[in-house]
Amino acid sequence: MENATHIFRPIKVGALTAKNRIEAAPVSVSDLTREGYLTDAHAALYGMKAKGGAGIVTIGEGYVSRSTGRAHALVIPLYDEFVLPGLIQTTDAIKAHGAIASAELLHCGVRSHPQFCQDGRVYGPSEGMNVYGARIIEMDEDMISQTVESYGDSAEMAQLGGADMVMIHGGHGWLLSNFLSPIHNQRTDRFGGSIENRARISLMVVENIRKKCGPKFPIEFRMSGSEFIEGGFTLEDTVEFARLLDGKVDIIHVSATSFHDPDAGLRMFPGVFLPHGCNVFLAEAIKKAVKTPVATVGGINSAEDIEDILATGKADIVALGRALSADPFLPEKIRSGNPQGIRPCIRCNNCISSIFVPYIKYATRVNRCTVNPDFGRELDQLYRRDPLEPEKVMIIGGGPGGMQAAITAADRGHDVLLFEKTDALGGELRYATAPDFKADLKKFTQYLIQTVQNSTVKVVFNTDVTVDLVKQINPGMLIIAVGAKPITPRIPGIDNQKVLMAGEMARHRPAVGQTVVIVGGGLAGCEEGLHLARQGKDVTVLEMKDRLAMEGTYLYWRALMVELEKEKRLKTVTHTICREINDEGVVVETVDGNKTEFKADTIIIAAGFEARTELVDSLRECDCKYTVIGDCVKPATVLESVHGGHFAALNI
Ligand SMILES: Cc1cc2nc3c(=O)[nH]c(=O)nc-3n(C[C@H](O)[C@H](O)[C@H](O)COP(=O)(O)O)c2cc1C
Repeated sequence: MENATHIFRPIKVGALTAKNRIEAAPVSVSDLTREGYLTDAHAALYGMKAKGGAGIVTIGEGYVSRSTGRAHALVIPLYDEFVLPGLIQTTDAIKAHGAIASAELLHCGVRSHPQFCQDGRVYGPSEGMNVYGARIIEMDEDMISQTVESYGDSAEMAQLGGADMVMIHGGHGWLLSNFLSPIHNQRTDRFGGSIENRARISLMVVENIRKKCGPKFPIEFRMSGSEFIEGGFTLEDTVEFARLLDGKVDIIHVSATSFHDPDAGLRMFPGVFLPHGCNVFLAEAIKKAVKTPVATVGGINSAEDIEDILATGKADIVALGRALSADPFLPEKIRSGNPQGIRPCIRCNNCISSIFVPYIKYATRVNRCTVNPDFGRELDQLYRRDPLEPEKVMIIGGGPGGMQAAITAADRGHDVLLFEKTDALGGELRYATAPDFKADLKKFTQYLIQTVQNSTVKVVFNTDVTVDLVKQINPGMLIIAVGAKPITPRIPGIDNQKVLMAGEMARHRPAVGQTVVIVGGGLAGCEEGLHLARQGKDVTVLEMKDRLAMEGTYLYWRALMVELEKEKRLKTVTHTICREINDEGVVVETVDGNKTEFKADTIIIAAGFEARTELVDSLRECDCKYTVIGDCVKPATVLESVHGGHFAALNI
């Protein structure tokens, strides 16, 4: 990018200077050791963000208290000296690339889980019941002082562990924001009531860290610019709060919402239904009220947006979470004039969704990124060596899996031939990206296509590959990525002229009537329904199971449900089997055996996909080393296809 002048302007952070205005936001990992210690893998992960060019790299979720304030099992215990070896390795890895290493300090307050707190108790500003059914015990002055000390002690531990700076987490519904929130704080003493009183504990924490870590040790304060909950604190409150922090901390970092909102995740990790940078206005308002540098965060993932936010003075620093998981080299690619080479985050929330799923019992997990198969595997990446002898690699299928396989194989020096039976790359993603809420996925598809085009991969279009062709080419490795085909259910009347298949709909966008019935409420059916309802059609989505769009990640699913509920023209009916299609519409049977009719001008069949197993089986006769990936193994997510392609190519 030619005009990234604001991004690369250094900024003073207390006594330090960040080399640019991009901060790696805290993105915690869930594969710590059982004690919560960081390992070489985490040093590699955080180090990669620094190598990729971020000016500040924040290590997420360092906990300040052994006995209380923990929301789940696997957190970094900044109260335990045995945290130091892993922490030192990690901060070293960050600093090795000239970035500022920062550690986050956290106490979960009323959202702590008694099961993970040593004393089994949950503390907060005022009495109440918490989300896990535990009694919230009002903190007395002694408890408040102890907690304040524990922040200072943990900051000291972080400093000892090589952190150049700390981030106090004062947002998202954790302890310090509980004190700020009228919902959680009904105290009448010096910690409740006025904003000065509600802010008091935060200021005491800042002061305690200054006392223990010295005046030159930079402190960043993360807050939510608004709780976005009825009765919660608002932007007006946080502007006042920021004025109280002004000059006492070195960065005021403005995120949004609180975990106490059941749909908090939708704005805290903004998904595809919100505009990029949807929380910037909060930082902008706060910046107008203070002199301290202000950071913004939330759904920002392009060079243009980052530069624009900084150039227009809406914030002084842009923090990126998921965008750096998708591509840690985002800053470096902007700096070196290659922003089009950035692998874009598609905001699918695969990386964070599992913590929200109410029916997942265990906290231990590994975060994965749809578009970056190497996220969380940075250590492997560091030790990876290119093969000594390049192979001739033949790939069949130009969808996301085939393209990723081609990119990775070519990148490793192999001689790659990619065969696509149509005249363009992209596979089903080419068509599945028409609705505006698919713009991020569309951008990723473009990224894959361009990366193939800019590589050494030779693409052969309009070719149906046969066993004879494979034998003729005689590859060292054949990667079969021929995708899936739509399922046509055996419903009487399915060949009625009112019927369209979802794939056909996505490909050609034929005209549809005013009243549309969609048979199949999986992701494709719901997304098409939403798209058509937004265009003014009256839509009914029929689903056999009890839940819609079950294939989506939890946060995407939840956001999609919220959008569907908003559409007055859209109706969803679950537990319903389509029994017949006729000139009037669709006849369905409900679980209790009743039959009902839904009139329709157009009927769209979105009954899912099945692997092209016959084609795959015929190719198995090729007499060469082969592997099968993505949708042609079984209907796959974009993540499964992309990762399948990447690892198939790494295994050559
Ligand atoms: C996988 C994941 C883990 C996160 N862990 C933390 C954390 O430990 N502490 C924290 O304050 N925020 C955490 N966040 C929130 C991010 O710092 C950031 O505020 C949020 O993802 C929105 O920014 P983005 O749109 O750039 O990702 C996490 C986000 C993700 C996706």
